[in-house]
Amino acid sequence: MTRRKLIAGNWKMHKTTAQAIQFANELLSRGAVGSAKTEVCLCVPSVHLYALAGIFEGSGVKLGAQNVYYEDEGAYTGEISCGMLAGAGAGYVIVGHSERRALFAETDDIINKKLLAVCSSPLNPILCVGENLEQREAGAERQAVGDQLEAALRDIGVRGVQRLTVAYEPLWAIGTGKTALPGQAREMCAFIRSKIESLYDGHAADRMRCIYGGSVDPVTAHDIVSGADVDGALVGGASLKPDVFFDIVNSVSNHT
Ligand code: PGA
Repeated sequence: MTRRKLIAGNWKMHKTTAQAIQFANELLSRGAVGSAKTEVCLCVPSVHLYALAGIFEGSGVKLGAQNVYYEDEGAYTGEISCGMLAGAGAGYVIVGHSERRALFAETDDIINKKLLAVCSSPLNPILCVGENLEQREAGAERQAVGDQLEAALRDIGVRGVQRLTVAYEPLWAIGTGKTALPGQAREMCAFIRSKIESLYDGHAADRMRCIYGGSVDPVTAHDIVSGADVDGALVGGASLKPDVFFDIVNSVSNHT
């Protein structure tokens, strides 16, 4: 089946609300963002969701969050639920980003709980997986990513998997300026799809999207996303400037 490409920005912990609003207005002033074949989403700090939802309404630009808690409500100071994010305008949420795994002690078990909660909410999950440099150099990238997938997707079910986007983000490529080669991205996305087919079924594996993340910029975006296996990109640093992000979206949507 032909899957719609997804270009998702990940702002991480950047921008005040005023700066976020300025970005949104500048992005929209450049013209149509995305196309029938290319969906665009910005995963922003949750405090900006409501304001940006008003600005992007009707533009086709979707919003996402970068983290979520798995309980619906209760005494969990500082946490935000799926329902709260959806109510504030999010359609997507990143789960298991490597920075959350490394800096905030998110385990495979926590990531699985978050994914289960997201899959029974209106939000669509973007699950991040990826090997570190040591694992890549030892030729153990498939083992590392396969183990992360097995743990994260436990009990998710076929319906959850169909709504899933997996972001393959090798740790050695994140924020380093060292983008993976297009062949490496294609190979790992194909592996991820085959792993999901073995965990669930071919139909679910065929419907889910697998995107690449790690130092994507306007120069590398097109080559990385071309071909059948890579369904888009998760863009960190290069999503912070409206002109740069717009160029990335265009370089993908003009060539698909
Ligand atoms: P980067 O980040 O594009 O700045 O490498 C990607 C990510 O962490 O999602």
